[in-house]
Amino acid sequence: MSDSLEFDRRHIWHPYTSMTDPLPTYPVMSAEGVRIKLSDGRELIDGMASWWCMIHGYNHPKLNAAIEQQLKKTAHVMFGGLTHEPAIQLARTLIDVTPEPLQHVFFCDSGSVSIEVAIKMALQFWAAQARPEKHRLLTIRGGYHGDTFGAMSVCDPISGMHERFSHVLPKHIFVDRPRSRPDEPLHPADIEQIERTISKNHRQIAAAILEPVVQGAGGMWFYAPAYLSHLQALCRRYDILLILDEVATGFGRTGLMFACEHAEVEPDIMCLGKAMTGGYLSQAATLTSSRVAEGISADGGVLMHGPTFMANPLACAVAQQSIELLQDDTWRSRVAAIESQLDEELSQYGGHRAVADVRTLGAIGVVQTHATVPIATVQKIFVESGVWIRPFNNLIYLMPPFIINRRDLHQLTSVIGRALDTL
Ligand SMILES: Cc1ncc(COP(=O)(O)O)c(C=O)c1O
Repeated sequence: MSDSLEFDRRHIWHPYTSMTDPLPTYPVMSAEGVRIKLSDGRELIDGMASWWCMIHGYNHPKLNAAIEQQLKKTAHVMFGGLTHEPAIQLARTLIDVTPEPLQHVFFCDSGSVSIEVAIKMALQFWAAQARPEKHRLLTIRGGYHGDTFGAMSVCDPISGMHERFSHVLPKHIFVDRPRSRPDEPLHPADIEQIERTISKNHRQIAAAILEPVVQGAGGMWFYAPAYLSHLQALCRRYDILLILDEVATGFGRTGLMFACEHAEVEPDIMCLGKAMTGGYLSQAATLTSSRVAEGISADGGVLMHGPTFMANPLACAVAQQSIELLQDDTWRSRVAAIESQLDEELSQYGGHRAVADVRTLGAIGVVQTHATVPIATVQKIFVESGVWIRPFNNLIYLMPPFIINRRDLHQLTSVIGRALDTL
């Protein structure tokens, strides 16, 4: 293994790392349920659900079987000019489980690409209505929508990991992230800023794009659902499309199937990814309404996107099975139980000298520290304590698979305390 690790260190980029001074990596042999087994035999309780997608846990027999069965038929076939039952079935299911106006599905390879497609839909829609001046996007600071260029242009312009590209990114319109927390009434300043910005710029704005209720990688911030309802009303009044990025929040993470349900908001365009395939394969989807889908072609045009691995049959088959697992409603009580345990066990850190804030929502628990967390050192403490938690910036957070039991979750929350004591 040491040879392989050395090769990995010298030749393979890991996310957001340097090739000359990489962060350490831990070799994985296998994973089962909520446990990741390292090559040296150590087992780690997974608090990350592999960046939030592995909601049913690893090596799930039904998800494995869905892929195995599809594999006997075909692993992949192009989607240009051909179609197949796994894609048709999954599209039916997605249309069924998402808000009613969303009737048309574009399959794509990743969450970032689903954002690119959503942006194209919005721009093409207005161009086809002979309103090409509507070409800018409105978003809130603190967002994260992915690493491709269109997605980067609507990430937080400073903290959004992409500051170094700001000179080449299109300039969109940003307002402050809502300060109103989920259980608070809307703060007048949130309302005032968004109303003022929209009334001044609406002639240029094609769409508002944001993560509903939970901003993930941009800072793990939770805000009042009422903000979304207010924004939807403004979008309707001023002829602006509403794009909701449910890549991180979709499929149960916040306690409801989609985070927009907290506000009973129905977007014009919705992006899905991550947990859609139960975390098994990279596949995402952008859904839209008939108004937008038909509007895009009002000038005879077509939606200009078509990735090679669009609607990959293995990914569609496993996504269908993953959503079927959610149709049995036990995930709701599991997520509710995770939420109350996280609430109870993380709130004890609220008074810790290193801690600035503690917040929980659904199966998400966040401990925000005053200082940046030294990732390599803290990661080592976590691994030595038998857990997998990956902090970033000043955030130590948990987003475990929904199947985690009380004892394992308790182990995760306790080890966070141990790490905090070292800061
Ligand atoms: C809200 C949100 N949108 C989009 C993305 C990008 O997804 P992907 O990493 O699959 O490209 C992410 C990834 O973390 C995300 O959290």
